[in-house]
Parts: sequence; structure tokens; C-alpha cells
Amino acid sequence: MSKRNWLPVRGAQGEHSRQAHADLPEGAYEREMSKEGFFGPAAFLYHRRPPTGWESFEGPLRPRAFDLNGLNQASASPWDAPVVLSNAHVQIRFWALAASMPALARNADGDQLLFVHSGRGDLFCDFGRIAYEAGDYLYLPRGTMWRLRCDGPARVLMIQATGSHFTLPDKGLMGPHAIFDPAMLDTPVMDAEFRAHQAEDGRVAVEIKKRDQVSVATYPYNPLDAVGWHGELAPARLNVRHIRPVMSARYHVPPSVHTTFLSDRFVVCTFAPRPFESDPGAINIPFFHNNDDYDEVLFYHAGDFFSRDNIEAGMMTFHPSGFTHGPHPKALKNMLVQTKPATDEYAVMIDARDPLDVGQGASSVENTAYVDSWKAS
Ligand SMILES: [Fe+2]
Repeated sequence: MSKRNWLPVRGAQGEHSRQAHADLPEGAYEREMSKEGFFGPAAFLYHRRPPTGWESFEGPLRPRAFDLNGLNQASASPWDAPVVLSNAHVQIRFWALAASMPALARNADGDQLLFVHSGRGDLFCDFGRIAYEAGDYLYLPRGTMWRLRCDGPARVLMIQATGSHFTLPDKGLMGPHAIFDPAMLDTPVMDAEFRAHQAEDGRVAVEIKKRDQVSVATYPYNPLDAVGWHGELAPARLNVRHIRPVMSARYHVPPSVHTTFLSDRFVVCTFAPRPFESDPGAINIPFFHNNDDYDEVLFYHAGDFFSRDNIEAGMMTFHPSGFTHGPHPKALKNMLVQTKPATDEYAVMIDARDPLDVGQGASSVENTAYVDSWKAS
């Protein structure tokens, strides 16, 4: 919670509910306007019409969607993967691999998170070997040397904490074992396969990325030659199916409750399948909100994306702060009564505290009609 001395105003006018996200005035649409994501002072406004009911939207600011399935040109190096979105604190790339990496990679610009959208194989690194499959987050501390040995093509969402780290959020009242038990963070092992990988003959190049420039250090042997390690810093793996999201039958919890990893100026959240709210007064779709302090990115990994029409796995939406966003018309029809008992979606959200720039990779696969997708069909 912020320690700031916010202006001590408290008001209420007209028709309104007493609690957020519940018992809305008849036929009204709730919009939340808030500070510091969902952690500062907030106001809840009750509108006659959905706040996404624009007739036209001109200028550089708009909701955007990118079909990353179109970024299918394979690159052997993660540093050749197209940049999708970035700012001074986070860099997001989408990487298509056709086969195993011939070289090692090392990110000197910050901690690296790989989210495996598809594919399976093994990650070899300074610390040993760890298998990967779709839905895995692979956390690589800055400076780790690594390569992926693929059993087939793979697609990976890459998230870099530029000049910084990934940490875990404070689980607060829920306790440290909520959402996922830290015991589910698997670390690499130094097994026979790792030793066999060490024993492979030949030159090995290490592609080191520093200040977004790549330098190559070539060894006459495999530098992943550690015989052991100890400490409290290591790569880690977490699969999204091990995330047990928090929800309430009587209250629509804000998306911040799905935070998986934290960095200094952005967060990574995971939406995993969860039951809908059952209380008759509680809304059971995301509420409209401004989130004026964050640019919001959602990558759709798998399932049926209940709050978005015409969005499929492999797509990414980008809602820069500055306008209100919320559910699409089809989802909005189910604001108070759902036809299914639970959501069936896996998605990765990246909320950035500073504005993001759209990279070449994203603009080449943009769906420019997305801005009009809230129009009732
Ligand atoms: Fe949002």
C-alpha cells in the first residue's frame, strides 16, 4: 500500500452502490478510476452506457492488438527475436525457434523470463538441465549462460527486466503459500544428460547481449562445465497449471491478485482457470477501468478468452493508459449471470508503470480493426 498522503476527499453523488463491484444501480456499468493500479485511492462511476462505446477513435493513442502467430520467421538466437513492446524498464520479444540453439545466450541487460507458448525440450545452463514445455515460465537470473535444446519448433514470449530483477509479490493476508507454493519453483539438475551435454566436443559461442548489442565470446569447449554449485540464486521453472488463483464467490477481485512476478517498474500476472463469482450482486466479468498509471499488455496463451471477442491463442492486446477499457460486448451480456461455471483461459499480463513503445515486430502484425471491436454486433 502506498505511503503517500493522498488528498483526503471522500464523496458520493447520485445513484451508486456502497461497495465496489457489487450491487450496481439497475442497468448501470461501473468504471473504476484509480491511482497506482488498484492500490491507491479510487472512484467508482456508474454509467448509463459501456464506457468503451466510442464511435470513432483518432490519433496515436488507441487499443491495439497484435497477432504474434504471424511472427513465424524462426531465429536461432533469442537476440534476433523481434521486439514487440519495450520501454527503459521492460523489453518484450516474441521468439520462434525452428530447432535447438546452436550457441549459448547470456543476457547482461537484466533478468530474463521466458514464457513457453509452445514446444518442449531442455534448457541447459550454468546450473544444470531442466525440461521445458508449453505453459512454463523459465526464470533466468541476469548473467546466466543458457541454451534451449528443442524437441521441435518452439514459440517463446520473452520478458526482460532491464537493469533489474524479478521477485515474487508479497502475498499479504493470504500467506506466502497462496496462488503457488514456492515449493513449485523447480531448479535445474546436474544429471547424466547435463554431463553428456558438457562432454560434447567442439567450439561453443556465447552470444552476450549488453545495451541491446550482441557480442560473441567463443570457447574451444562448452563453458557450461560447472561440476557443482550452491547458493540461493538459480534459474527456476513454474508452469501455469500449478497456479491456483485466488477468487471470491462474492467479490470480483482485481487483476493485481494474479501477480506472479514483480519487477521495479512492471508486473507479470497470470490468468488461470477459475470459477465465476456466484453471489447474485457481484459482477463476474472484469469491471471497466482506466488504470491511468499503467500500460497494460495481455498475451493469450490457451483456452477460451472469456472477456474478449475474436481473440485467439498467440494474440496480444495492448491497452496504453489514457482511455477506459473493459469487456467486449459478448462478455458484457454475462455481466451478472454466466453461462459457464468457470473461466477456461491462460493468459500472461504485463502491466508497465511507464509508457511502452510498439516495436517493429508488433506493428508488422497489428490488427488495426481492434479499436472498433467494442461496437455491438
Ligand atoms: Fe485492465
